[in-house]
Amino acid sequence: MAELLKLGILISGSGSNLQSIIDHIEKGTLPAQIKIIVSNSPQAYGLTRAKKHGITCAVLNHHDFSSRDDFDRELIRILQNAGVDLIVLAGFMRILTTSFLRAFDQKIINIHPALLPAFPGTHVQQQALDYGVKFSGCTVHFVDEGVDTGPIIIQSVVPVHIDDTAETLAARILKEEHKIYPQAIRYFAEGRIIKNGRHIEIKNIKNPDHAAIHNPPLDG
Ligand code: GAR
Repeated sequence: MAELLKLGILISGSGSNLQSIIDHIEKGTLPAQIKIIVSNSPQAYGLTRAKKHGITCAVLNHHDFSSRDDFDRELIRILQNAGVDLIVLAGFMRILTTSFLRAFDQKIINIHPALLPAFPGTHVQQQALDYGVKFSGCTVHFVDEGVDTGPIIIQSVVPVHIDDTAETLAARILKEEHKIYPQAIRYFAEGRIIKNGRHIEIKNIKNPDHAAIHNPPLDG
């Protein structure tokens, strides 16, 4: 049997994406193992989820460090000790330094609750509503030195409804996040990602689907 991909998952909050990854691993649909979960917040509910599943956790409170470099140095040490192959940012709300990116070159992925390159940064569901877009969604991408600018692996699109609030839109997007993040990790685990600069090709796509979608739907 091929070796399982060893994950280091970084969280800051609820950890629903973490839960979805755990569930896929436990169901046998994701050939990976979580070596360590690191939270920068001691209150993150994701830590409770991790403990329920007996997964090793570390809390690295950024308030305990005098600089971003010191924080990242310790984070690198913890993740290297755990022997991880892929760093998965799952609602991790810290910007990483260049030293961190270098230590795990091409091995860090992030999920973002918008259709990048639209609406990088924070409060992005409200930004999408304020702009009046008809679709939003989520994006899994490699992490580079910019904010939410790295090469895109997979995206999912959801409609924006006229009566949406930031919360209802976030919930619709989150459901899709829970599908595409395990899928992206699976591409990585199966060696199906071919990277050519910004362009990512996924080998052996099983269900090609190129239908256009409209919101509001076309008449007739
Ligand atoms: C998710 O919507 C994720 O896309 C977003 O935070 C939420 C975390 O939810 N991440 C970012 O905005 C990163 N810039 P979770 O803790 O329930 O997985």
